[in-house]
Amino acid sequence: SKKITIAIDGFSSTGKSTIAKLLAKKYNYIYVDTGAMYRAVTLFANKNNYVGVDFLRKENLVSQLPNISLQFKFNKDLGFAEMYLNGDNVEKEIRTLEVSQLVSKIAAISEVRKKLVAEQQLMGKDGGVVMDGRDIGTVVFPDADLKLFMTASADKRALRRYKELIERGDNVDYNDILFNVQERDRVDSTRKDSPLVKADDAIEIDNSDMGINEQFELICNLIDKKL
Ligand code: C5P
Repeated sequence: SKKITIAIDGFSSTGKSTIAKLLAKKYNYIYVDTGAMYRAVTLFANKNNYVGVDFLRKENLVSQLPNISLQFKFNKDLGFAEMYLNGDNVEKEIRTLEVSQLVSKIAAISEVRKKLVAEQQLMGKDGGVVMDGRDIGTVVFPDADLKLFMTASADKRALRRYKELIERGDNVDYNDILFNVQERDRVDSTRKDSPLVKADDAIEIDNSDMGINEQFELICNLIDKKL
């Protein structure tokens, strides 16, 4: 059957990647977590002292962009692709609160977006792709066959992220997570280049009170209508 392009955008910690992974598995599509790419560039910038809580050495980072190589490698045991930065598996390092606190600053840099969007468009050029992020339906694939926009209340989202990090063994504070989730949404929604906004033709799903199965079923129905 037809291999379509599915764009999933929305606020932070709305479960976009959980749903996207399930969809990719069911339809045998490629899953691209574009947030992981922005996180990997942020990790690179942080390690090289180009970004911190109170500074950003934008020109230094921009001049190094050609030396940043990002790669997704499928991990059979996990059932999804992990992020590699210049050959190193950085899947764990990019998910820390520290990176979450810096990533929106890096994602607002136009040169960074230009590089990553070009790579994303290449990965999805043949269809059969589920891509999640903030600008997939608006900028990366404005002609996507199906566009979803995920939302949920801030406290539900913070609680989900908090549980995730605690399960991983990270010693985090709920209020720090709640603040980070809200602050990232604010910066992502108000930046000049490709702000987080619902595409006109995107279907909004508020999953504050929805389980994974219910969302999955709803979205599969939407997809099957397009095939
Ligand atoms: O999806 P995730 O929460 O991992 O994304 C981390 C950050 O990367 C977002 O808060 C946003 O600043 C940035 N991002 C973006 N555009 C995308 C995906 C992520 O600006 N397509």
